[in-house]
Amino acid sequence: MHFDLVIIGAGAAGLFCAGQAGQRGLKVLLIDHAERVAEKIRISGGGRCNFTNRDVGPANFLSDNPAFCRSALARYSSQDFIALVQKHGIAFHEKHKGQLFCDDSSDQIIQMLLKECAAGGVERWQPCSVQELQTLSAESTEASAARFELHTTRGQVRAHSVVVATGGLPVPKIGATDWGLRLAKRFGHAIVEPRPALVPLTFDEQAWAPFSALAGLSLPVAVSTGQGKVKARFLEDLLFTHRGLSGPAILQISSFWTEGQALQIDLAPEHKLLPLLQSAKRESKRQLGNELASLFPQRLAQAWLERLGLASQRPMPECKDKDLQNLAQQLQAWSLIPNGSEGWRKAEVMRGGVDTRELNSQNMESKRVPGLYFIGEVVDVTGWLGGYNFQWAWASAAACARSL
Ligand code: FDA
Repeated sequence: MHFDLVIIGAGAAGLFCAGQAGQRGLKVLLIDHAERVAEKIRISGGGRCNFTNRDVGPANFLSDNPAFCRSALARYSSQDFIALVQKHGIAFHEKHKGQLFCDDSSDQIIQMLLKECAAGGVERWQPCSVQELQTLSAESTEASAARFELHTTRGQVRAHSVVVATGGLPVPKIGATDWGLRLAKRFGHAIVEPRPALVPLTFDEQAWAPFSALAGLSLPVAVSTGQGKVKARFLEDLLFTHRGLSGPAILQISSFWTEGQALQIDLAPEHKLLPLLQSAKRESKRQLGNELASLFPQRLAQAWLERLGLASQRPMPECKDKDLQNLAQQLQAWSLIPNGSEGWRKAEVMRGGVDTRELNSQNMESKRVPGLYFIGEVVDVTGWLGGYNFQWAWASAAACARSL
């Protein structure tokens, strides 16, 4: 059996690429080893899929080769995807910082992508695994001649082009594999070390004991890590957990964090705490605990006073200046070193992947193997939290499909 294009991985990027290429008149086969398509779309955005962001640019992505994503993002923008969502009559809303979610369910995005595939006459084999993929020596000069032979659990196929869209390593229980990375390596591609990103961070059990009672508490913070040009900073909500920290602020910073590095957390980013406490000392007769609880959640205020050995009942005028200084410093420049992350089980995305220096940024084609393409999360382009990873899936898929 011969196809113009075989796509491996029927997730966000693979489905979108298949529909686009099929509608351009190509004979497309889409293969996935899972029973169901696009499980990650299904569970994304709390079941409502944060399918893109109104404001997308290369600055919202991490990569060892930061300029690589520029061309694909510019040529298939979030406006293009929004227009497609509107064409399919899917209602959506903006939640926060340009993040767009379905009003109803993420299944609507999956159904939309399946309709696009049907409109392109895409053939889909699921569940189906690729056991072997070989390049063929050029037997014919025809532009559509087969360059690849694939042995699958549903038989042998030949294809002019092959797209690898097998995604990243997070959440192995719903079908994530390293197949795409291993294939890239086999063809001589360098791999930027994969590691969990957009992931909760954990702390040494003993060091975390004073904070574990705060599990469930959430508040807006500024979190940063790194220094100078590589310093990253986010203003988002932080969530205390039994084992460490989570919430959008921590997920964002986790993509930039490396083992051994400290995080700096400002628990009151809207305030300059020391002048506030100093003026309360002069003008207020309240107790320290009550004063602090007017600025922070009660549980957090109590935990910090206990940590620093400060009496919650002490009237403000009797507080020592150096204690107030220390308190303000600890709350606005809390420095702590995670001992790790919750790993692939809890990560939303993979940092690293197929090194982009050996891919063509115009169409995602391998510079080593003509006709072999890598799109989506398997590539070393990782978006921030907020719909950026799906936008990369759509944009890299479109760049590839348009060139075929
Ligand atoms: P994707 O993972 O979507 O698809 C890969 C496909 O390849 C899967 O169908 C898999 O079964 C298949 N496959 C893997 N190995 C294979 C093999 N050996 N043979 C055949 N098939 C194989 N992003 C965002 O922008 N907004 C959001 O709201 C969220 N929310 C979110 C929540 C959670 C819990 C997670 C885990 C992730 C997110 N993401 C997200 C990230 C987003 O889901 C992710 O970046 C995209 O799905 C990546 O699209 P891909 O098509 O590259 O991989």
